[in-house]
Amino acid sequence: MKMFKNRDIISMVDFSREEIDHILDVAERVEKDPTGCHDLLNNKILALLFFEPSTRTRMSFESAMYKLGGKCIDLGAIDASSLKKGESFTDTIKVISKYADLMVIRHPAEGAARYASEIVDIPVINGGDGTGQHPTQTLLDLFTLKKENKLERVNIGILGDLRYSRTVHSLVYALTLYNVDMTFIYPPSLRLPDWILEHLIKNDIRYKECNNIDEVIGDIDVLYITRIQKERFPDISEYYAVSDSYKVTKSLLVSKAKDDLILLHPLPKKNEIEKELDDTPYAKYFLQVEYGVYVRMALLGLIMGVFD
Ligand code: NCD
Repeated sequence: MKMFKNRDIISMVDFSREEIDHILDVAERVEKDPTGCHDLLNNKILALLFFEPSTRTRMSFESAMYKLGGKCIDLGAIDASSLKKGESFTDTIKVISKYADLMVIRHPAEGAARYASEIVDIPVINGGDGTGQHPTQTLLDLFTLKKENKLERVNIGILGDLRYSRTVHSLVYALTLYNVDMTFIYPPSLRLPDWILEHLIKNDIRYKECNNIDEVIGDIDVLYITRIQKERFPDISEYYAVSDSYKVTKSLLVSKAKDDLILLHPLPKKNEIEKELDDTPYAKYFLQVEYGVYVRMALLGLIMGVFD
């Protein structure tokens, strides 16, 4: 297992099963005693650089840093920074790296966080790079599956925009390290990218594909639902062709799903989950949000070298 101290968190492709399990163990320790961590990162500064909208990722990192006794500085709105005057991305991150001990970057371009990690001396965490990866979301998804006892010998359905969702790309890759079956349910134009399908085939991972949730809902133990990523479509008419093509409803689950099915969603959600489901035992997406703070506390502490 590689050391976590000063390590960049860019893609799930960079992590072994053993390393992921270690992060989840540390997150569980944090969950048991969050207040015991309150001064571990005194005097440490986390820089938040969000070149795309964010609620959960940005604020949960902020919350995690404060709960560890650290502080955050935020690039804020792009229009209020020197990027507006024409400063390059490269110069901006080099400058900010001199103000902080580590940074989280979200950027619309795939590869932006990897690039940043190559040119600055402080650790970089990828908070989502275009349609690429979203490793910290995946770690909190895995943490939720583990806490719900659904990370081994289960069938995990993944529904929606498998083409453009970075949360799906990270999660599917990571799940290949666990003993699970996967079922992909998607409108025909939103299939997983070839590199992931090739990875699944090469590693003999058991998976099934279909276009209609009704056909498979009775066979799955977890349903990971995604929003259609409107902002990623090069042609907006292609988005409108699929925008209302699936919705998970209470009547579908009550009539066909296993009683202990759980629903996960990285959020934000739009109309892909019927609102009535939010207060049912199926829905675990607000619990995921809570777990996100423990997982990010674990990661920040590991990278800063205060957890082993
Ligand atoms: C996701 C993202 O930004 O990729 N949001 C998140 O971080 N929880 C999912 C999405 O935007 O649909």
